[in-house]
Amino acid sequence: MPDAGPLTVFAEWLATTWLAHLIGGHMWAIPTIQSFHYMSLAVLFSSAVVVDLRILGKIARHQTISSLTQRLTPGIWIGLAGAVITGLLLMIAEPVRSITTWEFQSKMVMLVVVVALTVSLKRTVVANAAEWDLAPAAPGVARAAAVGSMVLWMLIILAGRWIAYHA
Ligand code: HEM
Repeated sequence: MPDAGPLTVFAEWLATTWLAHLIGGHMWAIPTIQSFHYMSLAVLFSSAVVVDLRILGKIARHQTISSLTQRLTPGIWIGLAGAVITGLLLMIAEPVRSITTWEFQSKMVMLVVVVALTVSLKRTVVANAAEWDLAPAAPGVARAAAVGSMVLWMLIILAGRWIAYHA
C-alpha cells in the first residue's frame, strides 16, 4: 500500500487548487459529476462483463468470441475514459477524504491491474480468433482471466462505494 505521508501532503495541496474550489463552490457539481461517474460505470461494467461471460461460454454462443469482443471493446474504453475523468474530478473535489483511504488506494491498484488484464485478454482473443471462434468457450487460461476480470471490476465498484464509509 502506498505511504500515507506524501499522499496526505498531496491531497492537502490538491484541496487548495482552483479546480477543487470551483467544484466545491457549486452545490450541484458533485452530484452531477457522480451521476456521470455512474453512467460511465454502467457502460464500462456491462461491456466488460458481457465479453467475459462470452469468453466463459455462458452467453451469446451464437456469436463468435472475437466478433463480440471487437464490438464491445469500444464500450469498455469509452466507459473507462468517462469513469477516469469523472473520478478524477470527484477526487479533486474532496481529496483528503478520498486519496488517503485504503479503499481509494486499493481501487486505483486494482484498476491498473484490470486495465492490463483487459488489454492482454483482448490481444489474445484477436491473436487466437481463428481457433477460438470454432469453440463454444475459450481455453482454461483465458477463462480464468475472464473470471479475474469480473471479480476485479466488482471489487473496484465495492471499493468505490466504501470510500464514503471509510472509518
Ligand atoms: C482513475 C479512475 C477513478 C477515480 C480517480 C475514481 C475516484 C472516485 C472518487 C473520488 C469517488 C467518490 C468517493 C466518495 O467521495 O465517496 C468515486 C466513487 C465511486 N467510484 Fe470511482 N474512480 C475511478 C474509476 C472508477 C471505476 C473504473 C469504477 C468502477 C468500475 C468506479 C466506481 C465507483 C463507485 C461505485 C463509486 C461510489 C459512488 C458513490 O458512493 O456515490 N470508479 N470514485
